[in-house]
Amino acid sequence: MLTWDPGHYEEFFAERHQPGHDLLVRIDHSSPRSVVDLGCGTGRLTSELAIRWPDADVVGVDRSAEMLASAPDTGVIFQLGDIETWTPTSPVDVLFANASLQWIPDHRTLFPNLVSTLAPGGTLAVQMPLSWDQPSHSILRELGAEYDVSIAAPPTLEPGDYLEVLAGLAETEVWVTTYHHVLSGENPVFRWVSSTGVKRFLDRINPDQHGAFLDELARRLLGAYPPDQRRETVFPFTRLFVLARVSA
Ligand SMILES: C[S@@+](CC[C@H](N)C(=O)[O-])C[C@H]1O[C@@H](n2cnc3c(N)ncnc32)[C@H](O)[C@@H]1O
Repeated sequence: MLTWDPGHYEEFFAERHQPGHDLLVRIDHSSPRSVVDLGCGTGRLTSELAIRWPDADVVGVDRSAEMLASAPDTGVIFQLGDIETWTPTSPVDVLFANASLQWIPDHRTLFPNLVSTLAPGGTLAVQMPLSWDQPSHSILRELGAEYDVSIAAPPTLEPGDYLEVLAGLAETEVWVTTYHHVLSGENPVFRWVSSTGVKRFLDRINPDQHGAFLDELARRLLGAYPPDQRRETVFPFTRLFVLARVSA
């Protein structure tokens, strides 16, 4: 299981959370009573859900005690739990999942199950990275293969498949956005992937080889994402959004 490092993950806080903000403003629910953030991580977006809907009971769920330990104390209830086995005690009005469901298998079963937990008029709002094919991640996989390490592709379906999976269950919108993040500092794409994707490889590589692996990864990523004359690096990152609303 991937271990999350809250400090490292939050280095690119603004860039990682922008898709969550963009998802949040698309949720059309004026007065939800129950709001749940699945895979809430450090709870920063969960707190923003609570600010938007101050009268709602807002719950954040995550299986990483380390991430939850960094959550702000803003009146939100944070629960240690696994999305795969999570069931609400009562129907949910807004079910939010930013950058978490790509870790959960079998989306053809998962998404209808999540929609079935919604109250009448409720909304499931999901954002997931579509980074598998971008150079940052293919370079990581190619290098991993040289160390005899391979990882499974994420369970994320083709965007249009979510319309099919939720047909008849919810009124569903799907869209894809490529953010062109402008990052500063030394080799920022290496630093970005070091807080997420790299860990799965290091877990499978002999610790004696970690230094060489990371040095070579840094070299290849710098080649693929060189800084411009202002020492800024453009990092395109594609995200998939699913917004599913059940009838009132
Ligand atoms: C990329 S972080 C996103 C965190 C937060 N939603 C945000 O946008 O900042 C993914 C989070 O999903 C959590 N996660 C992954 N698989 C999970 C599972 N099966 N059950 C609960 N949480 C899970 C991880 O612990 C991590 O905190």
